Amino acid sequence: MLVSGLLCVLCACGGFGVSDVTGTGNGTRGTSGNICPLLLVSFDGFRADYLDKYPFPNLRKFFSDGLLVDHLTNVFITKTFPNHYSLATGLYAESHGILASQMYDPETKKKFSLSNDSDPFWWNEATPIWVSVQNSGYKTAAAMWPGTDVRIQNSTPTHFFKYNPHVTFQERLGNLTKWMIEDSSVKFSILYWEEPDRTGHISGPENKAAMTTALKEVDDNIGILMDRLKQAELWEKINVIIVSDHGMAQCSQDRLIRLDSCLDPHNYTIVDLTPVAAILPLSDPIKVYNALSKCNSHMKAYMKELIPEELHYKHNQRIQPIILVADEGWTIVQNGTLPRLGDHGYLNSLRSMHPLMAAHGPAFRKGYKISSINSVDVYPLMCHLLGIPAMPNNGSFNAVRCALVGESCLDVAVVVGIVIGVLLVLTTLTCMFRLMKSSSSSSSRPFARLELQEDDDDPLLE
Ligand SMILES: *[C@@H]1O[C@H](CO)[C@@H](O)[C@H](O)[C@H]1NC(C)=O
Ligand SMILES: *[C@@H]1O[C@H](CO)[C@@H](O)[C@H](O)[C@H]1NC(C)=O
Ligand SMILES: *[C@@H]1O[C@H](CO)[C@@H](O)[C@H](O)[C@H]1NC(C)=O
Ligand SMILES: *[C@@H]1O[C@H](CO)[C@@H](O)[C@H](O)[C@H]1NC(C)=O
Ligand SMILES: *[C@@H]1O[C@H](CO)[C@@H](O)[C@H](O)[C@H]1NC(C)=O
Ligand SMILES: *[C@@H]1O[C@H](CO)[C@@H](O)[C@H](O)[C@H]1NC(C)=O
Ligand SMILES: [Zn+2]
Repeated sequence: MLVSGLLCVLCACGGFGVSDVTGTGNGTRGTSGNICPLLLVSFDGFRADYLDKYPFPNLRKFFSDGLLVDHLTNVFITKTFPNHYSLATGLYAESHGILASQMYDPETKKKFSLSNDSDPFWWNEATPIWVSVQNSGYKTAAAMWPGTDVRIQNSTPTHFFKYNPHVTFQERLGNLTKWMIEDSSVKFSILYWEEPDRTGHISGPENKAAMTTALKEVDDNIGILMDRLKQAELWEKINVIIVSDHGMAQCSQDRLIRLDSCLDPHNYTIVDLTPVAAILPLSDPIKVYNALSKCNSHMKAYMKELIPEELHYKHNQRIQPIILVADEGWTIVQNGTLPRLGDHGYLNSLRSMHPLMAAHGPAFRKGYKISSINSVDVYPLMCHLLGIPAMPNNGSFNAVRCALVGESCLDVAVVVGIVIGVLLVLTTLTCMFRLMKSSSSSSSRPFARLELQEDDDDPLLE
């Protein structure tokens, strides 16, 4: 108690789980004040290497005083809904159940799509962080993050909007900060913005002019976010994590895979199409598989049982009997032309699919850089910052532990430096010792050989 009281005085909010976890489920814990609020923001489709190619003055200001994770290894398939749910749960898609933008459940015969996503059935295989935060006695606020307008595990965030892509960034942010200011028991807020994904799809990530405009707008929004939090007198006490769900690859009319040229469309149903197709065979599955696996050298076909384990995209009944995975930049169509110039969904091992992450706030070291973590690691980090118990997940807190103030971590470079330094000193001392010895014993030759043998045993010289 004394310790947590002291921490309170010292830094307003510790955020290191110093308070007792006595969740009441009704927000009564929030006034204790020693947990910093946390805001998670996603800019959809923010490919990590945009940062190397465009200026981003505001984003740079944000992370120069905090943490930059150069790129996140996200989850397969690298689509918006699966990855946003992985960020919120720390689970791979096969474990949280939001597997694609279009899904079909063979048992209930239900269908999921981006415009018909509000049946809790699809989401209830996992517990998103906003529900856990509420179960720990705090309140939450959400602005358009996928799933936050659905009653998952029987609750929505305390404050939320129905999804509406026409609501501006400023309005989302304004209402979110209003909820945070009016009620200090709102400890977790979550905000979603559609760009630069939208422009990436329409114009392609290689369209320099279009991307310059879209990315400038994203950076302006980051500036607006920082200003708004400063105005609200939250900036110094809130931990903010900026993430994204996936990157973006350039597509082309020259890189089309036409399924109709390989197999009569009456032989299967397409549940989801590109760049990862989910195929429900209507005739002999082996024959359908054989026809599709020979279809195009830039597309790989898998029977469900043989999907590689490392994709973590196999153990769920909503994964269809056959999946097709297009190579980077290739587009699967039934017939017809290229639907969009940019796309994502490809293998999560591809750098073009990786998004970035940056963070700022009292919990984070200043000017710290990490080259890569897994996007499922963000969840245990957030639970740690909020001092709430994490649900079983696929992430690791260790990966980001060293980015936090108050975690004693030695930098690899520093450790290597110390080791080399110590070795140098020891070597110098040994040499000096030998020199002194040999000069003082130069008159007594008979013993020289014996001394040498002794020195040869010195482990430092091996
Ligand atoms: C919240 O829960 C606590 C403990 O269960 C209870 O004492 C309190 O009355 C509840 N408050 C509200 C507003 O429901
Ligand atoms: C939306 O999904 C539900 C099942 O979850 C289904 O019953 C309903 O027909 C769907 N609506 C549309 C418009 O597809
Ligand atoms: C944001 O708050 C304003 C003022 O309370 C309200 O009029 C508006 O409808 C809110 N926006 C949304 C998307 O709910
Ligand atoms: C497609 O379906 C037809 C009719 O059911 C069947 O004769 C044919 O063998 C099937 N082709 C493949 C490749 O499965
Ligand atoms: C192309 O596919 C669409 C939808 O699958 C179908 O309705 C149409 O007949 C196909 N066109 C050709 C030329 O096969
Ligand atoms: C991911 O975490 C879930 C929940 O703990 C677990 O059931 C699943 O086996 C994990 N997946 C992997 C590949 O470890
Ligand atoms: Zn997208």
